[in-house]
Amino acid sequence: MVLQERLSKYRTEIYEILFSLYNRTDLGSDFEKLLEKRYIERSTDLKKLDQNRISNPNWYLDKQMVGITMYSDLFAESLNGLKEKIPYLKELGITYLHLMPILKMPKDKNDGGYAVDSLVDIDPKFGSNKDLENLCSELRKNNISLCLDFVLNHTSSTHPWALKAKNGNIEAQERYFFYNNRDVPNYYDSIVPEVFPSSAPGNFTYVEELNKWVLTSFYPFQWDLNYKNPKVLFDIIDSMLSLANLGNEIFRLDAVPYIWKELGTKCRNLDEVHKIVRLIHIVMEIVCPAIILKGEVVMAPNELAAYFGSEEKRECHLLYNSALMANLWDSLVSQDTKLLVDQLNSILSLPKHCNFVNYIRCHDDIGWALDMQNQYDMNQDPLEHKIFIYNFLSGNFPYSYSCGELYNYDPISKDARSCGTSASFCGIEKALINNSDEEMDKAIKRDLLMHSLIFSIEGFPLLSSGDEIAQLNDYSYKNDFLKYEDQRNVHRSKFNWDRAELRKSKGTYQQRIFDGIKELTANKKINNCFNNDTFVSTWDSHNDKVLIIRRTYKEEELLCVFSFSDSEEFFYTDNLVGDYVDLFSNSRMTPGWGYKIKSHQYIWAKKIMEK
Ligand code: GLC
Repeated sequence: MVLQERLSKYRTEIYEILFSLYNRTDLGSDFEKLLEKRYIERSTDLKKLDQNRISNPNWYLDKQMVGITMYSDLFAESLNGLKEKIPYLKELGITYLHLMPILKMPKDKNDGGYAVDSLVDIDPKFGSNKDLENLCSELRKNNISLCLDFVLNHTSSTHPWALKAKNGNIEAQERYFFYNNRDVPNYYDSIVPEVFPSSAPGNFTYVEELNKWVLTSFYPFQWDLNYKNPKVLFDIIDSMLSLANLGNEIFRLDAVPYIWKELGTKCRNLDEVHKIVRLIHIVMEIVCPAIILKGEVVMAPNELAAYFGSEEKRECHLLYNSALMANLWDSLVSQDTKLLVDQLNSILSLPKHCNFVNYIRCHDDIGWALDMQNQYDMNQDPLEHKIFIYNFLSGNFPYSYSCGELYNYDPISKDARSCGTSASFCGIEKALINNSDEEMDKAIKRDLLMHSLIFSIEGFPLLSSGDEIAQLNDYSYKNDFLKYEDQRNVHRSKFNWDRAELRKSKGTYQQRIFDGIKELTANKKINNCFNNDTFVSTWDSHNDKVLIIRRTYKEEELLCVFSFSDSEEFFYTDNLVGDYVDLFSNSRMTPGWGYKIKSHQYIWAKKIMEK
């Protein structure tokens, strides 16, 4: 039987991991039963998909891949509504759809669904599990793979386990971390940094019903799960498999670095976390090999790469390129690509099995985790620079084109992150306020430049729904008592279908952005230099305001050139010969001395092959 064959390949490793986590030898057979049950339940259709993916394991690196991320209710009210909108996704060339959390969540505060009341049931406001299954199969017919968020680190404080725990049930309490007094919490707080220092300070929350403290690394209504209890791990894996069997194809492992806690450490990125991710990888290979894992790991580069595992013992297939987001905005604002080039080089030097999704905006804030050592080398004061960047993006200087908000501003350390949509950051909102066509032209150029980058870098692009029609910041959250405390809501507004219609009217900013992104998508999909085995590197432009990425596939070559400058620039390249043609403007270029590039222009110059 297929399952047994796959199991036998990994059995020893599974037992080793379980033993090293729990120091028990009796867990393996129950674990196997769990896998068997979910394998039997898996539909013939999905098993067919598994077989296809086994013969094409790099399917997610195909040049066709273009992703989008969205809140299904903001985009289309419900899962059924979303099904009706598939033609819109096709129009944009989407092949990968990431839905923000859709599992049952508390009605009031729920951290955008990241506080989960259930690990397997869809929240009725989106529809039912059957609706999800139908949506997945419809998406599959349209070559779109669904990615679901899976929250591993915590449940809501109203999840059935938490409710039982509050009622005194010991078995349920053992699924979380409870303390009778502040001794351990005080010690823990002295070592472990806070995730939301100003919106949710401290790592513990007092539970009145029990007169105890519970560990809450994120918001007080998100209780951290205790993976030292194998029941938690088993239930998490079982729930993932049950969602996989509805047709989900990619799991986004939410906040995965935090899932294992060890007193006396910073409780991030511990070895046990990697063992668990490896175990989940193995489970997917055995039960549903069609499925891949995308880790949400917002960590320093050296810790980040570890989440890919080694080539022999892989963990996540994909990771978010969050440092890229920060570096791209930094380059745009400071008109300097030095930090960006270093970041790209470090990513490009990773082994072949390390792949990223690239994005300029997502549902979260932008944390300014730039490379401090490089900043010092450039004589840049990291704190002063950060203060400049976040004030610029918030529009706090009269000369700034951007509109945005600060997030988790800490008056003592002066740390802050930034919130806003890409269109508002790039100047479209200000141009509308100032009613200036000239400013609008510049803003659109910046916006498309930023998008062009995520299409050019190794990995695949992930759009943030609404950005393709240049949706602006929405400040109405300030009047909503459930939302006003979380500035991330400024870029989480309802998708405006009336404005989306304007993408069809020539000359509107919606049309210019939408068509610009469509052009990027179309060119990426037909160009061999976006094949998976393309060699990608940065290339010296001899100008810090101009970035060059060179993509070579066999004899073919594409030079992607980007200007981050407010004015016209010159760049030149070494060691390149021949003629090139820009796929966007059709103009020819012969790289050499003093090639001209306009402010915020991007070029995809394809080498003209000798006949
Ligand atoms: C992830 C999510 C973020 C959420 C947090 C807690 O970082 O992206 O939106 O607040 O997890 O679940």
